[in-house]
Amino acid sequence: MIPPPYKNKVIEPIVLIAKEKRIKAIEEAGYNTFLLRSQDVYVDLLTDSGTSAMSDSQWSGMMLGDEAYAGSRNFYALEQAVSDVFGYKYVVPTHQGRAAEHLIAKILINKKGGCVPNNFYFTTSRVHQELAGGTWVDVGIPEANDPSNAHSFKGNIDADKLKQVIKNKKNIPFVRIEACLNMAGGQPFSMANIIQVSSICRRHGIFLLLDATRVVENAYFIKQRENGYSKKTLAEIIREICSYTDGCTMSSKKDHMVNMGGFLATNSKKVFEKAKELVVVYEGLHTYGGLAGRDMEAIARGIRESAECEEYVEHYVSQVRYLWEKLKKSGISVVEPAGAHAVFIDAKKFYPHIPQNRFPAQTLAAEIYVEGGVRVMERGIVSGKHGREAYNGPELVRVTIPRRVYDLAHLQYVVETIKSVSKSAKLPKGLKFVYEPPTLRFFQARFKKVK
Ligand SMILES: Cc1ncc(COP(=O)(O)O)c(C=O)c1O
Repeated sequence: MIPPPYKNKVIEPIVLIAKEKRIKAIEEAGYNTFLLRSQDVYVDLLTDSGTSAMSDSQWSGMMLGDEAYAGSRNFYALEQAVSDVFGYKYVVPTHQGRAAEHLIAKILINKKGGCVPNNFYFTTSRVHQELAGGTWVDVGIPEANDPSNAHSFKGNIDADKLKQVIKNKKNIPFVRIEACLNMAGGQPFSMANIIQVSSICRRHGIFLLLDATRVVENAYFIKQRENGYSKKTLAEIIREICSYTDGCTMSSKKDHMVNMGGFLATNSKKVFEKAKELVVVYEGLHTYGGLAGRDMEAIARGIRESAECEEYVEHYVSQVRYLWEKLKKSGISVVEPAGAHAVFIDAKKFYPHIPQNRFPAQTLAAEIYVEGGVRVMERGIVSGKHGREAYNGPELVRVTIPRRVYDLAHLQYVVETIKSVSKSAKLPKGLKFVYEPPTLRFFQARFKKVK
C-alpha cells in the first residue's frame, strides 16, 4: 500500500463493544446494518459517502462561510471550481447527490415518460427516474453483472444495446453514465467508451448525463489502464470526460471529501434555467441549494484537492487494492478487478447454501458485524429488486473505505474479521423479511433469522 500523503491532526475515539452486545445490537437493528447505532460500530465501512476526513484547508474554508441567503461568495467559489475542474458553464448546488438526481429527472423526463438508458443502476438515480415517470433500462456491458469477470472497464455502456434502445423507443429524455459504477463493484468506464456514447447521443440530440460522484477514481483508472493517458494529469482527464457530456449530477460526499453536499452542473442554458426554478421549491435558492455557505466553501476546496492532488487518489485506491488482495489471498471471492471505493464480496460464493431469496449478502453483512464490530453493506437482492420485478443479479457485500479515515492496522483487522467469519463452523441459514418497505427497501428493511 502507498503511504498516506497526510498525517493526523484530529482523532475520533472508537470502541469495540463486547460480542454479546453486538449480537443484541444487530438483532435490535433487524439484521440491517443501516439501522445500527454508530456508537456500536468499531470499524465503519458502511459507505464512503459523507464519511471522509476533511483537510485543514477544507476546515479553515468553513470558517470563511458567507451565510448570506442570496449570492454568498462561497457559491461563486464553488461555481469557479466546477468551471475550472469539470468545465461546465452552470451549476446549481444541492444538499446531496440524490437531490441533483431528483432535479434532472424532473426537468428532462417532465411527466412525458420515456426510457432512460443507464450503465446498470444506482438505487437513488433509478428511483428518481421512475418517480418522474420514466423507465430505467440497463445498457451496461454484460461483464458488469459477472463478479468473476476481470474486464478493465466494466462501467462501459454497450453501444449496440444503446443504439437498439434508441431505435426502438422514440422518447429518450437522457442517457446516464455513472463513473466507477458502484453496483458493479466500483468499476470505471473507458474514455473510448464515453467518446462513442457521446457521439451516439449527439447524433440523436440526446442529453448525456454523467453521474460524476466518483469521476476522480474513474480518471485515475483511465490513466492506469487506457493507452494514451498515462502522462495526462487527473485534472486533464476529468475535464476531457466532462467535455463529452451535457451535464452531471454530483454527490460531493465522496470524491470531494465533504460530509454534506452535491450539485447539478450543465452546459445547457435551458436545463439550468429550469433547475434554478425547481431548486427553490425542493432545496433552496439557486445560490445555496440547501447548503450553508461554509459547506459550499468546503466543496469548492474539495473539488480542487481531489483533482489536483493525485497522491490522495493513488493512496485511496491502493487501500482498496490492499484489502482486495488480502481477502482474495484468503480464499474469499471478491468482485474482479479491484475497484474504486470498496471491495465487493460475492455472497453467493461465500454462502452457497443460502438461496438468494434468503438474502445471503444481508446475512453476511450481519455476521461480519457480529464477528468484529465491522459495519458493511448489502448490495444484492435487497438493494437491487425494484417493486415486483424479478432479480437474479449480483449478490454482494460492499466493504467500503472512507477517504483519509482508516489506516493499515484497521484494514488488517477487517481482513482478520472477514477471514474468521469464513472459517466459522456454525453456518447461518439466512434471513426472512419482517418489514419490507416499498421503495429503496434496503434502507429501512427489517429481518429475522431463518432457524
Ligand atoms: C453513484 C452514486 N450516485 C448517486 C449517489 C447519491 O448521492 P447522495 O448519497 O449524496 O444522495 C450515490 C450515493 O451513494 C452514488 O454512489
